[in-house]
Amino acid sequence: MVDAARARGNGGRRIPCGMLLLGVNIDHVATLRQARYRGQAGPLPGEPDPLRAAHEAELGGADIITVHLREDRRHIQDRDLKALAASCPLRLNLEMGATAEMVGIALDLRRAGPAPQMATLVPEGRQEVTTEGGLDVAGHGPALREMVARLKAAPGGMTVSAFIDADERQVEAARAAGFDACELHTGPYAAAFASAGGDWSLGSLRREHQRLLDAGQRVRSLGMRLHAGHALNYANVGAVGAMPGMAELHIGHAIVSRAVFTGLREAVATMKRAMAGG
Ligand code: PXP
Repeated sequence: MVDAARARGNGGRRIPCGMLLLGVNIDHVATLRQARYRGQAGPLPGEPDPLRAAHEAELGGADIITVHLREDRRHIQDRDLKALAASCPLRLNLEMGATAEMVGIALDLRRAGPAPQMATLVPEGRQEVTTEGGLDVAGHGPALREMVARLKAAPGGMTVSAFIDADERQVEAARAAGFDACELHTGPYAAAFASAGGDWSLGSLRREHQRLLDAGQRVRSLGMRLHAGHALNYANVGAVGAMPGMAELHIGHAIVSRAVFTGLREAVATMKRAMAGG
Protein backbone atom coordinates (compact mmCIF):
# COMPACT_ATOMS: atom_id res chain seq x y z
CA MET A 1 0.00 0.00 0.00
CA VAL A 2 1.06 3.59 -0.51
CA ASP A 3 3.09 4.89 2.38
CA ALA A 4 1.09 8.06 3.06
CA ALA A 5 4.16 10.12 3.97
CA ARG A 6 6.04 9.10 0.83
CA ALA A 7 2.96 9.56 -1.30
CA ARG A 8 2.73 13.26 -0.56
CA GLY A 9 3.61 15.59 -3.39
CA ASN A 10 5.96 18.50 -2.85
CA GLY A 11 2.83 20.50 -2.13
CA GLY A 12 2.08 18.17 0.80
CA ARG A 13 -1.09 16.62 -0.60
CA ARG A 14 -1.94 13.13 0.56
CA ILE A 15 -2.84 10.39 -1.90
CA PRO A 16 -5.40 7.89 -0.59
CA CYS A 17 -4.22 4.29 -0.29
CA GLY A 18 -5.44 1.88 -2.96
CA MET A 19 -6.05 4.49 -5.65
CA LEU A 20 -4.69 3.83 -9.15
CA LEU A 21 -2.16 6.60 -9.76
CA LEU A 22 -1.07 8.16 -13.03
CA GLY A 23 2.54 9.14 -13.51
CA VAL A 24 2.83 11.43 -16.52
CA ASN A 25 6.14 11.10 -18.31
CA ILE A 26 7.03 14.55 -19.66
CA ASP A 27 10.29 13.60 -21.42
CA HIS A 28 8.77 14.39 -24.81
CA VAL A 29 7.98 17.94 -23.77
CA ALA A 30 11.75 18.33 -23.46
CA THR A 31 12.24 16.40 -26.73
CA LEU A 32 10.25 19.11 -28.49
CA ARG A 33 12.19 21.90 -26.82
CA GLN A 34 15.52 20.28 -27.68
CA ALA A 35 14.49 20.06 -31.34
CA ARG A 36 14.92 23.85 -31.46
CA TYR A 37 17.16 24.79 -28.54
CA ARG A 38 19.71 21.94 -28.25
CA GLY A 39 23.06 23.28 -27.11
CA GLN A 40 21.70 26.64 -25.96
CA ALA A 41 22.12 27.45 -22.29
CA GLY A 42 21.33 30.56 -20.30
CA PRO A 43 18.41 31.92 -18.34
CA LEU A 44 15.86 31.47 -21.16
CA PRO A 45 16.32 27.82 -22.17
CA GLY A 46 13.34 27.77 -24.56
CA GLU A 47 9.87 26.33 -24.86
CA PRO A 48 8.01 24.17 -24.09
CA ASP A 49 9.09 24.11 -20.45
CA PRO A 50 8.85 20.76 -18.62
CA LEU A 51 8.08 22.50 -15.32
CA ARG A 52 5.11 24.22 -16.90
CA ALA A 53 4.08 20.79 -18.23
CA ALA A 54 4.19 19.40 -14.68
CA HIS A 55 1.79 22.12 -13.55
CA GLU A 56 -0.57 21.48 -16.47
CA ALA A 57 -0.46 17.74 -15.78
CA GLU A 58 -1.37 18.39 -12.16
CA LEU A 59 -4.37 20.46 -13.27
CA GLY A 60 -5.46 17.52 -15.45
CA GLY A 61 -5.38 15.16 -12.45
CA ALA A 62 -1.92 13.57 -12.70
CA ASP A 63 -0.58 12.09 -9.48
CA ILE A 64 3.12 11.79 -10.28
CA ILE A 65 5.54 13.38 -12.72
CA THR A 66 8.07 11.06 -14.34
CA VAL A 67 11.24 12.13 -16.12
CA HIS A 68 14.16 10.13 -17.46
CA LEU A 69 17.54 11.82 -17.23
CA ARG A 70 19.35 9.87 -19.94
CA GLU A 71 23.09 9.51 -20.05
CA ASP A 72 23.12 11.34 -23.42
CA ARG A 73 20.76 14.10 -22.15
CA ARG A 74 18.72 13.81 -25.33
CA HIS A 75 15.61 15.34 -23.77
CA ILE A 76 15.51 16.14 -20.04
CA GLN A 77 18.53 18.22 -18.99
CA ASP A 78 20.14 18.46 -15.57
CA ARG A 79 18.67 21.94 -15.12
CA ASP A 80 15.15 20.56 -15.81
CA LEU A 81 15.60 17.94 -13.16
CA LYS A 82 16.83 20.52 -10.65
CA ALA A 83 13.88 22.82 -11.40
CA LEU A 84 11.42 19.93 -11.07
CA ALA A 85 13.02 18.67 -7.86
CA ALA A 86 12.67 22.16 -6.40
CA SER A 87 9.19 23.08 -7.63
CA CYS A 88 7.28 20.09 -9.04
CA PRO A 89 3.75 20.25 -7.64
CA LEU A 90 3.52 16.42 -7.54
CA ARG A 91 5.67 13.49 -6.48
CA LEU A 92 8.63 13.16 -8.80
CA ASN A 93 9.70 9.79 -10.20
CA LEU A 94 13.21 9.81 -11.64
CA GLU A 95 13.76 7.17 -14.29
CA MET A 96 17.44 6.44 -14.49
CA GLY A 97 20.00 4.03 -15.82
CA ALA A 98 21.60 1.87 -13.14
CA THR A 99 24.83 3.84 -13.01
CA ALA A 100 26.93 5.44 -10.28
CA GLU A 101 26.50 8.85 -11.94
CA MET A 102 22.69 8.67 -11.76
CA VAL A 103 22.64 7.35 -8.20
CA GLY A 104 24.89 10.29 -7.26
CA ILE A 105 22.55 12.80 -8.94
CA ALA A 106 19.49 11.35 -7.22
CA LEU A 107 21.16 11.40 -3.81
CA ASP A 108 22.47 14.96 -4.28
CA LEU A 109 18.94 16.11 -5.05
CA ARG A 110 17.62 14.37 -1.96
CA ARG A 111 20.22 16.02 0.24
CA ALA A 112 18.83 19.35 -1.02
CA GLY A 113 15.09 18.62 -0.78
CA PRO A 114 12.23 16.11 -0.81
CA ALA A 115 12.28 15.13 -4.50
CA PRO A 116 12.63 12.83 -6.32
CA GLN A 117 10.50 10.67 -4.05
CA MET A 118 10.94 7.65 -6.31
CA ALA A 119 13.65 6.24 -8.56
CA THR A 120 12.83 3.76 -11.31
CA LEU A 121 15.85 1.88 -12.59
CA VAL A 122 15.75 1.18 -16.32
CA PRO A 123 18.17 -0.26 -18.85
CA GLU A 124 19.62 2.31 -21.18
CA GLY A 125 20.99 1.71 -24.67
CA ARG A 126 22.46 4.64 -26.58
CA GLN A 127 20.95 3.57 -29.90
CA GLU A 128 17.40 3.01 -28.71
CA VAL A 129 14.71 5.59 -29.49
CA THR A 130 13.12 4.97 -26.10
CA THR A 131 13.56 2.34 -23.38
CA GLU A 132 13.20 -0.98 -25.18
CA GLY A 133 13.45 -3.95 -22.83
CA GLY A 134 13.23 -4.46 -19.09
CA LEU A 135 16.16 -4.28 -16.71
CA ASP A 136 17.96 -7.62 -16.33
CA VAL A 137 17.79 -7.70 -12.54
CA ALA A 138 18.46 -11.44 -12.42
CA GLY A 139 21.72 -10.95 -14.31
CA HIS A 140 23.03 -8.03 -12.20
CA GLY A 141 21.80 -8.85 -8.69
CA PRO A 142 24.73 -7.82 -6.48
CA ALA A 143 25.43 -4.48 -8.24
CA LEU A 144 21.74 -3.56 -8.21
CA ARG A 145 21.31 -4.58 -4.58
CA GLU A 146 23.98 -2.07 -3.61
CA MET A 147 22.43 0.74 -5.68
CA VAL A 148 18.97 0.06 -4.32
CA ALA A 149 20.29 0.15 -0.76
CA ARG A 150 22.03 3.50 -1.38
CA LEU A 151 18.88 5.05 -2.89
CA LYS A 152 16.63 3.75 -0.13
CA ALA A 153 19.00 5.26 2.42
CA ALA A 154 18.47 8.77 0.96
CA PRO A 155 17.45 11.33 3.60
CA GLY A 156 13.74 10.71 4.23
CA GLY A 157 13.84 7.45 2.23
CA MET A 158 13.14 6.84 -1.43
CA THR A 159 10.87 4.32 -3.13
CA VAL A 160 12.91 2.31 -5.61
CA SER A 161 11.25 0.56 -8.53
CA ALA A 162 12.60 -1.84 -11.18
CA PHE A 163 11.37 -1.62 -14.76
CA ILE A 164 11.27 -5.28 -15.76
CA ASP A 165 9.76 -7.62 -18.32
CA ALA A 166 6.70 -9.57 -17.17
CA ASP A 167 8.85 -12.51 -16.15
CA GLU A 168 8.58 -14.18 -12.75
CA ARG A 169 12.35 -14.78 -12.61
CA GLN A 170 12.96 -11.03 -12.88
CA VAL A 171 10.27 -10.32 -10.28
CA GLU A 172 11.92 -12.67 -7.81
CA ALA A 173 15.33 -11.14 -8.51
CA ALA A 174 13.86 -7.66 -7.91
CA ARG A 175 12.59 -8.78 -4.51
CA ALA A 176 15.98 -10.25 -3.65
CA ALA A 177 17.71 -6.99 -4.69
CA GLY A 178 15.49 -5.02 -2.28
CA PHE A 179 13.27 -3.13 -4.75
CA ASP A 180 10.04 -1.70 -3.28
CA ALA A 181 8.15 -1.89 -6.57
CA CYS A 182 8.23 -3.47 -10.02
CA GLU A 183 7.09 -1.58 -13.10
CA LEU A 184 6.05 -4.24 -15.60
CA HIS A 185 7.04 -3.51 -19.19
CA THR A 186 3.77 -3.30 -21.12
CA GLY A 187 5.42 -2.93 -24.55
CA PRO A 188 4.78 -6.55 -25.69
CA TYR A 189 1.15 -6.34 -24.49
CA ALA A 190 0.69 -3.02 -26.35
CA ALA A 191 2.18 -4.51 -29.52
CA ALA A 192 -0.14 -7.54 -29.25
CA PHE A 193 -3.11 -5.22 -28.67
CA ALA A 194 -2.23 -3.21 -31.78
CA SER A 195 -1.76 -6.26 -34.02
CA ALA A 196 -5.01 -7.80 -32.74
CA GLY A 197 -6.85 -4.51 -33.31
CA GLY A 198 -7.97 -4.77 -29.70
CA ASP A 199 -9.84 -8.02 -30.42
CA TRP A 200 -9.81 -9.96 -27.12
CA SER A 201 -10.96 -13.14 -28.82
CA LEU A 202 -7.41 -13.48 -30.21
CA GLY A 203 -5.06 -15.74 -28.25
CA SER A 204 -2.01 -13.58 -29.00
CA LEU A 205 -3.49 -10.65 -27.07
CA ARG A 206 -4.87 -12.78 -24.26
CA ARG A 207 -1.47 -14.48 -23.81
CA GLU A 208 0.41 -11.18 -23.40
CA HIS A 209 -2.21 -9.91 -20.98
CA GLN A 210 -1.99 -13.15 -19.01
CA ARG A 211 1.80 -12.74 -18.75
CA LEU A 212 1.19 -9.34 -17.13
CA LEU A 213 -1.40 -10.83 -14.78
CA ASP A 214 0.92 -13.66 -13.71
CA ALA A 215 3.89 -11.39 -13.15
CA GLY A 216 1.69 -8.85 -11.36
CA GLN A 217 0.38 -11.52 -9.04
CA ARG A 218 3.97 -12.55 -8.20
CA VAL A 219 4.96 -8.90 -7.55
CA ARG A 220 2.13 -8.56 -5.06
CA SER A 221 2.66 -11.94 -3.43
CA LEU A 222 6.25 -10.90 -2.74
CA GLY A 223 5.03 -7.72 -1.04
CA MET A 224 6.09 -5.17 -3.68
CA ARG A 225 4.06 -2.38 -5.25
CA LEU A 226 2.79 -3.07 -8.75
CA HIS A 227 3.42 -0.49 -11.47
CA ALA A 228 3.22 -0.74 -15.25
CA GLY A 229 4.19 1.33 -18.24
CA HIS A 230 5.49 1.67 -21.78
CA ALA A 231 3.40 2.11 -24.92
CA LEU A 232 0.15 2.39 -22.99
CA ASN A 233 -2.41 4.50 -24.82
CA TYR A 234 -6.06 5.51 -24.62
CA ALA A 235 -7.23 2.25 -26.24
CA ASN A 236 -5.10 -0.35 -24.47
CA VAL A 237 -4.78 1.13 -20.97
CA GLY A 238 -8.09 -0.05 -19.47
CA ALA A 239 -7.16 -3.73 -19.18
CA VAL A 240 -3.87 -2.85 -17.49
CA GLY A 241 -5.47 -0.37 -15.11
CA ALA A 242 -7.95 -3.09 -14.12
CA MET A 243 -5.26 -5.63 -13.14
CA PRO A 244 -5.63 -6.72 -9.50
CA GLY A 245 -3.47 -4.59 -7.22
CA MET A 246 -2.27 -2.22 -9.94
CA ALA A 247 -0.99 0.87 -8.12
CA GLU A 248 0.62 3.14 -10.73
CA LEU A 249 0.74 3.55 -14.49
CA HIS A 250 3.53 5.60 -16.09
CA ILE A 251 2.54 7.02 -19.46
CA GLY A 252 4.21 9.54 -21.73
CA HIS A 253 4.03 9.29 -25.50
CA ALA A 254 0.26 8.89 -25.87
CA ILE A 255 -0.50 11.77 -23.51
CA VAL A 256 2.01 14.23 -24.97
CA SER A 257 0.88 13.30 -28.49
CA ARG A 258 -2.75 13.99 -27.69
CA ALA A 259 -1.75 17.20 -25.93
CA VAL A 260 -0.59 18.62 -29.28
CA PHE A 261 -4.27 18.79 -30.25
CA THR A 262 -6.14 19.13 -26.96
CA GLY A 263 -3.65 20.62 -24.51
CA LEU A 264 -1.92 18.66 -21.78
CA ARG A 265 -4.51 19.24 -19.09
CA GLU A 266 -7.26 17.68 -21.18
CA ALA A 267 -5.02 14.84 -22.42
CA VAL A 268 -4.19 13.89 -18.83
CA ALA A 269 -7.80 14.11 -17.68
CA THR A 270 -8.93 11.89 -20.58
CA MET A 271 -6.21 9.34 -19.73
CA LYS A 272 -7.36 9.24 -16.11
CA ARG A 273 -10.83 8.34 -17.34
CA ALA A 274 -9.48 5.72 -19.78
CA MET A 275 -7.43 4.11 -16.98
CA ALA A 276 -10.57 3.56 -14.99
CA GLY A 277 -12.49 2.18 -17.95
CA GLY A 278 -11.07 -1.38 -18.03
N1 PXP B 1 7.99 3.59 -18.08
C1 PXP B 1 9.29 3.49 -18.43
C2 PXP B 1 10.19 2.77 -17.51
C3 PXP B 1 9.78 4.08 -19.61
O1 PXP B 1 11.08 3.98 -19.92
C4 PXP B 1 8.89 4.79 -20.43
C5 PXP B 1 9.39 5.43 -21.68
O2 PXP B 1 10.27 6.44 -21.37
C6 PXP B 1 7.55 4.88 -20.02
C7 PXP B 1 7.12 4.25 -18.86
C8 PXP B 1 6.55 5.64 -20.82
O3 PXP B 1 6.40 5.02 -22.05
P1 PXP B 1 5.52 5.72 -23.17
O4 PXP B 1 6.17 7.02 -23.50
O5 PXP B 1 5.54 4.74 -24.28
O6 PXP B 1 4.16 5.93 -22.57
